[in-house]
Amino acid sequence: MSTELHTEISQAVVQRRNFAIISHPDAGKTTLTEKLLLYGGAIHEAGSVKARRAQKKATSDWMEMEQQRGISITSTVLQFVYQGFHINLLDTPGHQDFSEDTYRTLTAADNAVMLIDVAKGLEPQTKKLFEVCKMRGIPIFTFVNKLDRPGREPLNLLDEIEQELGLQTYAANWPIGMGDRFKGIYDRHQEKIHLFERSAHGSREASDTIIDIGDIRLEELLLDKDLYYELKNDIELLDGVGEEMDLAAIHNGQMTPVFFGSAMTNFGVELFLKYFLDYALKPGSYSSTEGDIPPTYPEFSGFVFKLQANMDPKHRDRVAFIRVCTGKFEKDMTVVHARTGRNIRLSRPQKLFAQERVSINNAYPGDVIGLNNPGMFAIGDTIYTGKKLEYEGIPYFSPELFASLRNPNPSKFKQFQKGVSELREEGAVQIMYSLDEAKRDPILASVGQLQLEVVQFRLQNEYGVETILEVLPYSIARWVDGGWEALEKVGRIFNTTTVKDIEERPVLLFRNEWNCQQLGTDHPGLKLSSIAPVVI
Ligand code: G4P
Repeated sequence: MSTELHTEISQAVVQRRNFAIISHPDAGKTTLTEKLLLYGGAIHEAGSVKARRAQKKATSDWMEMEQQRGISITSTVLQFVYQGFHINLLDTPGHQDFSEDTYRTLTAADNAVMLIDVAKGLEPQTKKLFEVCKMRGIPIFTFVNKLDRPGREPLNLLDEIEQELGLQTYAANWPIGMGDRFKGIYDRHQEKIHLFERSAHGSREASDTIIDIGDIRLEELLLDKDLYYELKNDIELLDGVGEEMDLAAIHNGQMTPVFFGSAMTNFGVELFLKYFLDYALKPGSYSSTEGDIPPTYPEFSGFVFKLQANMDPKHRDRVAFIRVCTGKFEKDMTVVHARTGRNIRLSRPQKLFAQERVSINNAYPGDVIGLNNPGMFAIGDTIYTGKKLEYEGIPYFSPELFASLRNPNPSKFKQFQKGVSELREEGAVQIMYSLDEAKRDPILASVGQLQLEVVQFRLQNEYGVETILEVLPYSIARWVDGGWEALEKVGRIFNTTTVKDIEERPVLLFRNEWNCQQLGTDHPGLKLSSIAPVVI
């Protein structure tokens, strides 16, 4: 590789930061995203992400099902530039469209922002997404939102994060009051206070009044003697017994820096963004069959982490989302598709901004590109130039909904088989089978309800097969470490149903958390896992 190209790639890596937001619906992800984009100058008036979304819903090229349900299935990647950094925000589908894609997106992220509602603390979806971040060991930056509303004690929230997630916390800033009494935040690193001023619904960048902690006007500016003394006490307490900031621990996902603010009123967002850029990891190495591959490896490589099908029969295009891991991507380049060994030319690459697709010519490690998928890509596939390599692939994540899928029309047997198998390969849903030979119907296993509906819809629209879905009474799946052998050793087990996944591995299905825990108590030697590694 020429020295110029090497310098170009190294520089691109140094300038790139990529992250995904993990949160529970309503914590303020859309609002925070809008405000971050505002600082990146990507949109001029916050609110336009939502406005655009609403507007788009009315246009005709929207997926039929999205129109019917009035929701967004499309996950987007937003890129913006702030203070010389190229920032990629990988959007994680939430709400009703929470699906395995939400987890998969995290496999393409170098950092995560954990967004928490100050009144609600840790909520279920956040905890599930955290597990994936933990598995990957990526840094997690916590933003506690909605400080303009009454909420829980900040110390109590830190404690919850430590106890429930096993993460050390470092309060990077500290709120002064909350709700009606919210006066601002104290930046512990700079030892400065940012005073909160309510702007017009946060539609513009909030102007910050910043004063030193030692400023004699402080007591007067806070307009509240109690708050002043509370702050002094809190600072003493944090300095005395709180954790010290440890960047290495942040980088390996053991400590989370915690920030407070209010996305809606646009307070604390820019400060958060600045520290995030200081502390976040630049695009890193990925493990492959050739060992860990650093982003500056001279050849181009990447992997598919998400496939998206347009369900409109008139525009039946597919987009494969690829995380660029190494080298430089160039439009029209020819790469090798690792799984099949075939050469493919990557024409029509796209970068995605909100719902709009923009053609691109180049991309670098940490970027995401969308390729029109001629049907050859599957989730986890590697593409590369140069020496053969294959990335580890994407694991199966714990499904929560199970349903057996029946084809009532025997003449459609072939289409049914083909459809189920292709949709599974595409990662639309996981497929499991009963151990009972008489029960041949596949069991669909999904993370969200929408996935099941999408599969039925697509089977009908693309394969012409109408199916019947019968919901099964399970909500938890666990893979058995050590496979069949380990399972046989423990003998008979109760309150669980054993099925097999597509790799013929045993999977235990439970009706509820209690049954799952009970098995752990009865057979402590049996190791279960909620994420199954992919077999290359
Ligand atoms: P989500 O994408 O995580 O689901 O959350 P979203 O941003 O849509 O926010 C959920 C609700 O919380 C919205 O109110 C939003 O305005 C509000 N919100 C977000 N950040 C803050 C904050 O810092 N302070 C306060 N007080 N509220 C916040 P909504 O009534 O559902 O929608 P809207 O009518 O405001 O759009």
